[in-house]
Amino acid sequence: MTDQSQIRIKAFADKIMSAEAAAEFIPAGSNVGMSGFTGSGYPKAVPGAMVARARDARAAGESYAVSVWTGASTAPELDGAMAEVDGVHLRMPYQSDPISRSKINAGLMEYTDIHLSHVAQMVWEGFFGHMDVAVVEVAGITEEGELIPSTSVGNNKTWIDQADKVILEVNSAQPLGLEGMHDIYYGTALPPNRKPLLISKVADRVGVPYLHVAPEKVIAVVETNNPDRNTPFKEPDADSEKIAGHVLEFLTHEVDRGRLPATLLPIQSGVGNIANAVLMGLDKGPFRPLTSYTEVIQDGMLQMLHSGTVSMASATAFSLSEAGLADLIENIDFFRERIILRPQEISNHPEVIRRLGCLAMNGMLEADMYGNVNSTHLMGSSMMNGIGGSGDFARNAYISMFLSPSTAKGGKISCIVPMASHVDHTEHDTHVIVTEQGLADLRGLPPRRRAQQIIDHCAHPDYRPALQDYLDRATATAKGKHTPHILGEALSWHERFLKDGTMQPV
Ligand code: COA
Repeated sequence: MTDQSQIRIKAFADKIMSAEAAAEFIPAGSNVGMSGFTGSGYPKAVPGAMVARARDARAAGESYAVSVWTGASTAPELDGAMAEVDGVHLRMPYQSDPISRSKINAGLMEYTDIHLSHVAQMVWEGFFGHMDVAVVEVAGITEEGELIPSTSVGNNKTWIDQADKVILEVNSAQPLGLEGMHDIYYGTALPPNRKPLLISKVADRVGVPYLHVAPEKVIAVVETNNPDRNTPFKEPDADSEKIAGHVLEFLTHEVDRGRLPATLLPIQSGVGNIANAVLMGLDKGPFRPLTSYTEVIQDGMLQMLHSGTVSMASATAFSLSEAGLADLIENIDFFRERIILRPQEISNHPEVIRRLGCLAMNGMLEADMYGNVNSTHLMGSSMMNGIGGSGDFARNAYISMFLSPSTAKGGKISCIVPMASHVDHTEHDTHVIVTEQGLADLRGLPPRRRAQQIIDHCAHPDYRPALQDYLDRATATAKGKHTPHILGEALSWHERFLKDGTMQPV
């Protein structure tokens, strides 16, 4: 049960109820805003009760489904469990759950995949309809009724503002020492009333540490005591280490050429093991003190804060392993001085990213030889996760890097292809591509020179001759010589994979 100090306001005492009772306030067909971002700060109990409602409805030959809007990905007990019972009508803006993914790709669940910085604005504008209920996890509620945010902020401010009714989950597994870490900015507005966002350093605070809620909107308070989803942390594999090595060499070169300061510029790194490997590489490297203006704080960032390599990090959420979470809880006072969690429209704000000059490093599925990047669609049609914040950072970064192994599925897929089967980040947003083979610096280069760099430095040797052959023939035969393609052949590598299970000629 929740410690008394987590719900300090007396006025909410008579709103405490079970998750099942709270879920009764959410009718089928509702638009529900839930907290949660990369497996942290999502509601732990009410979604389970909604899943039970969906099961009961199904047994009675009826259906119970709602639209679920979040910050980003959540956890199997929310995304996976609700998808399993067909409890989600429309999901937005990001997911990474295997069951959810399979329902989306089977056409059984609608999914709107959008830039994470756009979500709040689109909801204010009403493109998704009206929000009926917000279900938001918090770490505590103060005497004044202010909400102490949890391990992610995401879109919680917008959900609480926009929803007719608010259900709060107060999770006593979240450390109360989070109080003071957040910076919730209440100055956002729609044009023409927007003001400059006065963040010119990573450490700048422009908001307040609490989420505000009108007390009359709170219809239920549910007590939980469950940890966030823990993402197991894997030691970097050989390819990730090579990719990290290339990034470090590139940054060293940029500093030597006087194009970056010795303390670099604020780092943004995507999620996953390659990103963690780059952080670990930077931790051993010569640059310090660094700062980070990013979306998610992973284990590698906690380590860099401990070692002093990073002096300050700003994000919207944590995404930690079990050990990382234990470290956060144990050293919460230390981290509170060095980490700021902001709403995602601020952590991913184009104006701030451009002003600070972020160095963006994101994963990709494939890039074509001109530098168009696909982060989301397998073989052009099947959704993987979503664009997340990669576009917010890539378009506005000082240097935008995309990182990936050069092949996937044991070499059967080349991640460098003649033409990308889907484009999330155009060639204009891609400055640098890195694979374990090497790094292509595309800045300032016209298309055919970009292609040569990518083939020579990033493609796997097994696919390099075929890419060179395609480029040479396209250059010789195509009518348009600016970005030469042989259209009838451009996607033949993907077709071959779908037909023969490999992109390699058989
Ligand atoms: N075609 C088909 N499948 C591919 C592929 C390609 N070109 N490249 C990789 N894959 C498969 C891998 O085989 C793997 O499949 P498996 O899980 O069945 O083994 C899966 O895709 C993930 O590949 P992996 O190399 O482990 O990638 P990752 O975990 O580094 O994730 C993205 C890469 C692109 C999926 C991930 O970075 C992403 O979702 N990006 C978009 C959102 C984002 O950038 N967020 C951060 C912004 S702040």
